[in-house]
Amino acid sequence: MTESDIESVCFSEDRIAEIVHRLAEKIRYDFKSIVSPQHPLVLVGILKGSYIFLSDLSRALKDVPHVVDFMTVSSYHGCSSTNNVKILSDLRQTIEGKHTIVVEDIVDTGLTLQSLLNILKTRNPASLRLCTLLQKPYQKVADVTVDYYGQHIGPEFVVGYGLDYNELFRNLPYIGILKKEAIERYK
Ligand code: IMP
Repeated sequence: MTESDIESVCFSEDRIAEIVHRLAEKIRYDFKSIVSPQHPLVLVGILKGSYIFLSDLSRALKDVPHVVDFMTVSSYHGCSSTNNVKILSDLRQTIEGKHTIVVEDIVDTGLTLQSLLNILKTRNPASLRLCTLLQKPYQKVADVTVDYYGQHIGPEFVVGYGLDYNELFRNLPYIGILKKEAIERYK
């Protein structure tokens, strides 16, 4: 697993930092005046893909009182999507009455999030929004509204900045397209 497995870089470290700061600004604008240390915003990171994005977003939110929590959902195997969503690990805290933002790495078909948002809605949060770093608009089949999105990308399979291919490549500091040979090699 090396950088030579990457066909091209879609988003450099600097570009990602710009996107994350823009998203944080929008969230601050919407929530700064309505959350407090007593009633903080809840950021729900969807593991594992969002772990790096969430940590950068959380730091960029600076003075906006918020807490973080995580869920693990399985829906993806290798390079293809299925609508078989399972909650593998749940939140540690209740979101009832709390302003909540689900933080996801990438929305592809949207099926994972559609099922997840339906589950979270039944827990009666004060509000429930969705923030995703990347969106693949051409493959979206589920009816999910993304409130905060970083960038649209094409249908190519991308890795890095938390995004994996069979658990590899998450630690790349940038986001890139995987070479076809690498897709075969790490199957
Ligand atoms: P969806 O249910 O089809 O929207 O799938 C979303 C999930 O699939 C994301 O949370 C990612 O874990 C994974 N995924 C979708 N596209 C990619 C990709 O290009 N690279 C890595 N993971 C991806």
